[in-house]
Amino acid sequence: MPDRFRRRLLNLLLSFYNSQHNGLSYLEEDYFEDSAYQRIYRKIYFNIFRNLGFIERILTEHTRNLKDKKAKSLLVLGASQIFFMDDIPDYACINETVKLAPARLKKFINATLRNIARNKETFILSYSIRENFPAWFVEKWSDFFSNDRELDNFLINLNKSPEFCSINLDSLTPEPYIKNANRSYPMDLASFYIPMLTKNTGAGFILDACAAPGGKTLVLSHLHPEAKITALEKNSKRSDILDQNIKKYNAENVIIANEDFLNFDLKDKEKFDLILLDAPCTGLGTMKRHPEIRWLRTKEDIKRMASYQNKFLEKASRLVTQEGCILYSVCSLEAEEGIDVINNFIDSNPNFKILTPDFHHIPSEFFCGKFYYTLPH
Ligand SMILES: C[S@@+](CC[C@H](N)C(=O)[O-])C[C@H]1O[C@@H](n2cnc3c(N)ncnc32)[C@H](O)[C@@H]1O
Repeated sequence: MPDRFRRRLLNLLLSFYNSQHNGLSYLEEDYFEDSAYQRIYRKIYFNIFRNLGFIERILTEHTRNLKDKKAKSLLVLGASQIFFMDDIPDYACINETVKLAPARLKKFINATLRNIARNKETFILSYSIRENFPAWFVEKWSDFFSNDRELDNFLINLNKSPEFCSINLDSLTPEPYIKNANRSYPMDLASFYIPMLTKNTGAGFILDACAAPGGKTLVLSHLHPEAKITALEKNSKRSDILDQNIKKYNAENVIIANEDFLNFDLKDKEKFDLILLDAPCTGLGTMKRHPEIRWLRTKEDIKRMASYQNKFLEKASRLVTQEGCILYSVCSLEAEEGIDVINNFIDSNPNFKILTPDFHHIPSEFFCGKFYYTLPH
């Protein structure tokens, strides 16, 4: 019997090569779930999508054509383990993959994977970090960095595992990550400091416009305990998760609404003093946690999201009080979705201005001029 997780990974690769993923991430389940099954599934999954360019190149160079998607998926699954799962012997990587192959492919998969295993040390010598990102992405970022070393450092870091800390919600400080801690929420530092930027903003009514799963809502709730916070989330499944988190962490000043922010109506209620607009984006800044995202997004997606984000910011501007603040953020590193959206908005809305946040409680490397901007390293 082949392993359950390998069958699942094979099906996932098949849907990836058949473009049946609808642009969604594959790693749907809780990142922090920690069963033995989940650990090995996640490890192989990450190895595949972090190194897919290299794996596909080796396969293309050393096998007959890879038009058969089943064969290609099986080979990627097997080769990724041979190259990157040091704790599984090559013969087991090969045998377990061959078990998943239909009769017509067994011989071919077996022979190809054996050949790869025999030559793996030589193949690894030709590994290049850049081949593991789409060409358009590498080209775009090579304009940003002044030399090749910086670019490679950036890409190497994007291919690393994410680092989380536990946010102590009582003291609002980051602590080393503790599993299942009661009063601390797992978060990465870059996300934590976003709501912390509002530390010195007096706010009675706060809107968290795109709130699930709610990490930033929780920080806002504890940072502004006297405020009334409305947390919106369009997606009903994610709104349920938000609800669970709000209850679990006793964020009593938060009211959740499963609503579309773009259709949100004040209905005679007061405007908000503070709006956190953690807008939907390409997610290209979440590659450490979602390595597949680089292969699912295109340059056109960035443009498409930017025009969507403009609408969100325009909408927020109609819901904020005259002296109020909008905190706009995205988990994309692309200027088109972040800094450019803000600058374009300011250009066409002269009654708004950019506020430089108070840096004191935030590490200085997280700033880029007037903006809060974090890179993977
Ligand atoms: C970047 S995530 C928010 C993360 C969240 N702020 C946190 O810190 O945990 C963006 C969220 O916006 C939601 N969303 C997308 N379009 C929306 C809309 N039109 N109205 C409200 N929520 C929306 C998505 O479902 C997603 O949960």
